[in-house]
Amino acid sequence: MKANKELWDKLAKIHYQSKFYNVEGFLNGNQTLDPIELEELPDVSGKKLLHLMCHFGLDTLSLARLGAKVTGVDFAPEAIELARELSKTADIPAKFICSNIYDLHRNLNDKFDVVFTSGGVLTWLPNLKDWARIISRFLNPGGLFYIREFHPFAYVFDDRENVTELRVEYPYFQGKEPLRFDEEGSYADPDARTGKIPTFEWNHPISRIINVLIDAGLTIDFLHEFPVTTYKAMPFLIEKEPGRWILPENQDKIPLMFSLKATKRD
Ligand SMILES: C[S@@+](CC[C@H](N)C(=O)[O-])C[C@H]1O[C@@H](n2cnc3c(N)ncnc32)[C@H](O)[C@@H]1O
Repeated sequence: MKANKELWDKLAKIHYQSKFYNVEGFLNGNQTLDPIELEELPDVSGKKLLHLMCHFGLDTLSLARLGAKVTGVDFAPEAIELARELSKTADIPAKFICSNIYDLHRNLNDKFDVVFTSGGVLTWLPNLKDWARIISRFLNPGGLFYIREFHPFAYVFDDRENVTELRVEYPYFQGKEPLRFDEEGSYADPDARTGKIPTFEWNHPISRIINVLIDAGLTIDFLHEFPVTTYKAMPFLIEKEPGRWILPENQDKIPLMFSLKATKRD
């Protein structure tokens, strides 16, 4: 979707300079992977790892710091340029490819031990069947897929500025048509001047996420759900600790994130 690519190209630079992403902290040695990922990912040291939708590469390079041989992919040219720059500045070797994931077979001919993706990726994808096929295509037999993602159930709630409680606004069982949003700003910087670029997003139910992976030849090892998220996804969430946002009452009422690990069948 052209508008989405335009937005992400703009956001790459804004995010690179934002407090939220804290590039300086990363250059000083901070690990940017989410604590859930650090706990759940098996040892990636020495593994060939493909990071899908890598943005400007912070997590890709953090995976490299854990010893993985990494390749990051994103369709925003600005993001890939910044990622390459960051790899040089931090002196962490990594390969970055500018490609739509749906065209990746034309730009990359390789197999990986691990395919990784996380934190706000599925909502930008119109077709999950093809997404799962891509994951399977680039995995060695026995290779693993891991995702930590915002829970599709959390996306059904109204997130506009004046909202003070959970109120269903968007469909959980969304069809093929995307939802259109016209807001300015970003989760990383609400005051960012992105201009009025419409975005088009899809909410994929958890059953679809699981079934496309099974159909593409993967076995699900686990699915975990968490009542916590990484940003102020709704205006009434409270920050329990840095980077950990929860509902103010009945904290365990709904899932806000999930993680899933799967293995490619031989
Ligand atoms: C929310 S960001 C991921 C953020 C990442 N978890 C992080 O915190 O750095 C989503 C990324 O997906 C990329 N993207 C969206 N649709 C894509 C597609 N079809 N192919 C490749 N990249 C895509 C965007 O350019 C953006 O960098």
